[in-house]
Amino acid sequence: MKATAVAPANIAFIKYWGKTDEELRLPLNDSLSMNLSGSYTTTTVEFSPAFTADDTRLVDGEFSQREILRVGDALDEIRAKAGIRLHARVYTKNSFPKGAGAAASASGFAALTVAAFAAAGCKLSQKELTIFARLGSGSACRSIPDGFVLWEKGTTSDDSFAYSLCPHTHWDIRDILVIVDSRMKKVSTTDGMKTVSTSPLLAARLKAIPARMEGIKQALAQKDFARLGEIAEEDCLDMHRVMQTQAPPLQYWNDSTRMIMDAVKTWRKAGLPVYFTVDAGSNVHVLCEGRDEGHVLEKVRALAGIESVILNKPAPGAHRIDNHLF
Ligand code: PMV
Repeated sequence: MKATAVAPANIAFIKYWGKTDEELRLPLNDSLSMNLSGSYTTTTVEFSPAFTADDTRLVDGEFSQREILRVGDALDEIRAKAGIRLHARVYTKNSFPKGAGAAASASGFAALTVAAFAAAGCKLSQKELTIFARLGSGSACRSIPDGFVLWEKGTTSDDSFAYSLCPHTHWDIRDILVIVDSRMKKVSTTDGMKTVSTSPLLAARLKAIPARMEGIKQALAQKDFARLGEIAEEDCLDMHRVMQTQAPPLQYWNDSTRMIMDAVKTWRKAGLPVYFTVDAGSNVHVLCEGRDEGHVLEKVRALAGIESVILNKPAPGAHRIDNHLF
């Protein structure tokens, strides 16, 4: 009763910020993302009658008590569905800094869901797996299907799920993740979203999203990079304006974030097709097409104040592998 899975983080072009149901993690709006090849989590889960308690560990790091409890809750959901009562050993390894807006919770809960159901001997459809991953962390549902993924908000737990719009092989684009601060963010997305309705800009955001979603879907189908980039950037800025006008205001950017966003705009004015998006953190995802990778990397690496750079291509969704972590 042991299995290992790898799951990618994902970057949303149309972002999820705010829920209609806290417990079930039902989102206020549909969202759309791309899986990231260079930012992933590997998780091994084993259930055994020999274990007297759950043992959850982050290899090369440490989970907080809150994170261990969240994994415990997810394990309880999975055990209930699989009809088992055994304790679990869960080892997890990230390829990138945890908690810095690089979506470790998305890849983490996607890998946990796929590994734990496999270890429990329970075969679920991909749709069901996305629903269980969502209960752990909303955006985790988007890390299960292949490539470019849509999460339909739904109205109940059973119809809030994610599916692939295009496989990762569809379009050779890049997400160059520029890390400017690898520490844990101060306000988690779970806490930050709780006060979203205090923003006077939320209603306008929710109204604007369906047209953006149509635009991104068309851009994907036609491989229209400028359209995709423009909409992704607009939606990112819109989400951050909502965050910044919540009570209390949430400010995830720092000076380096703003400097990189300005640099991207300057490069674009000079003719380079490059765009940015930022999640709930200070790190910047710089988007470009594969043919411009070398040029953009060179410019990004020359910027002052950056800690590291992670190069991502579109990636497959969560899947099992044979090499266990223990
Ligand atoms: O699912 P969570 O709690 O990791 O929230 C993700 C929220 C954003 O990253 C800010 C946006 C998104 O859609 O990924």
